[in-house]
Parts: sequence; structure tokens; C-alpha cells
Amino acid sequence: AATAQYEAESSPAVCVGTIDSDWSGYSGSGFCNGTNSTSGYVQFTVASGAAGTATLGVRFANGTTTARAANVVVNGSTVATVSFEGTGTWSGWTTKTLSVPVVAGSNTVRLTPTSANGLPNVDRLDA
Ligand code: GCU
Repeated sequence: AATAQYEAESSPAVCVGTIDSDWSGYSGSGFCNGTNSTSGYVQFTVASGAAGTATLGVRFANGTTTARAANVVVNGSTVATVSFEGTGTWSGWTTKTLSVPVVAGSNTVRLTPTSANGLPNVDRLDA
């Protein structure tokens, strides 16, 4: 199947922060600039045809030199921790690949930052 692209700025995605478009290179109409705190999450709703392991790509930018870590919370359970390293500039987008368990049908995939720096800027999720 073709890759689905779930934009962080488009419902049903949730961005606790602001939808910004001041750094170039994003897809869609903007990206999620999560609040710089552990409460500043982004959540996607991902459709899966079958239960199993899904490979997801998080497209992000981190213009700082400090990696930003997040818990990967699928359907309410933390299944992994991911580190979003610096990408050089806020316009430097890269994709981080995750493997996560999913159920058939609709799945919520939330990135919850583990430090007060919050998340990197998150453009979209590829599934
Ligand atoms: C800067 C940048 C934002 C980014 C923020 C951060 O303000 O312009 O796009 O989200 O840093 O540190 O998270």
C-alpha cells in the first residue's frame, strides 16, 4: 500500500503547542511546535489493516545541539523511547523510524517529551 502521511497540523492529530510555518521545508501547511515542557505532546491517529508491528516515520527538526527524547505511547501504553537528535537548523528535517505494536483499525500514537525542553518540531508521521 502507498505510504500514508499524517500531518501534525491536521485533525485528528493533536498538537499541544502551536501550529507554525515559520521554518521552511515542512509538508502540508505547517508543523507542530510542541510546548517546551513535558506536557507538550503531539498525537497522531494511525490506521492499520492488521494487528502486528508497524514501521512509522516521524519527520522532525531540532535546531538545537541537544537531543530531545520522548516516550512513544501507542493506544495509551508506552512502548518505546526515542531520541530526536539535533538536525543542524530548524529547517533541517529528518525522519526517525520507529517500530511499534498496533491493533487492527485505529491507533493513537503519541510522542510525549521526557524533558522540559519538550519535543522537536514535528512535521508529520509516515505509516
Ligand atoms: C525556536 C524555534 C521553534 C522551536 C523552539 C524550541 O523558538 O523557532 O520553532 O520550536 O525554538 O526550542 O522548541
